[in-house]
Amino acid sequence: MLTSLLLLPLLLLLAPVQQQPAATPASPVAIPAEALHMLNPVKPTPEGMAQAKKIFGYDCAMCHGTTGNGKGDMVADLKLNLKDWTNPESLKNRTDGELYYIITNGQGQMPGENGRAKPEQIWNMVVLVRSFSAH
Ligand code: HEC
Repeated sequence: MLTSLLLLPLLLLLAPVQQQPAATPASPVAIPAEALHMLNPVKPTPEGMAQAKKIFGYDCAMCHGTTGNGKGDMVADLKLNLKDWTNPESLKNRTDGELYYIITNGQGQMPGENGRAKPEQIWNMVVLVRSFSAH
């Protein structure tokens, strides 16, 4: 009797831990709430934007297109259906934190910049991605 009383709380403690492996992998689209609301801490400078454009040219344009229109060279091969960022509607419902998170960690068929670019450079790329609709 005494042992079962002691075992019950122990089992309750263990239960959620044991369920975790079954719950992973988490959906790649899931973005943590705190990441969604991150604000861009970087003030864009001409140098920062030039650097972001350079990185975009060799890490992103092959999919998203040099103008951000979603028609890069790899789109056909990978059968991608990318948003046209020259249309202001396309990123209207996304927060900066969300874009930062996706550029850092990747999403679906997109590889993340994590480890390749510094946080400051990624924030500049968020600004760059948004700027494609301004022309
Ligand atoms: C291999 C092709 C590929 C490359 C390279 C790539 N992306 Fe993507 N990107 C995608 C795909 C596919 C999605 C949509 C992902 C999803 O919704 O599952 C996406 C989504 C995004 C989004 C979210 C908004 C949206 O339009 O869906 C941002 C922001 C983004 N990419 C920025 C970048 C940046 C910046 C780079 C370069 C550092 C980059 N991407 C490189 C394929 C790519």
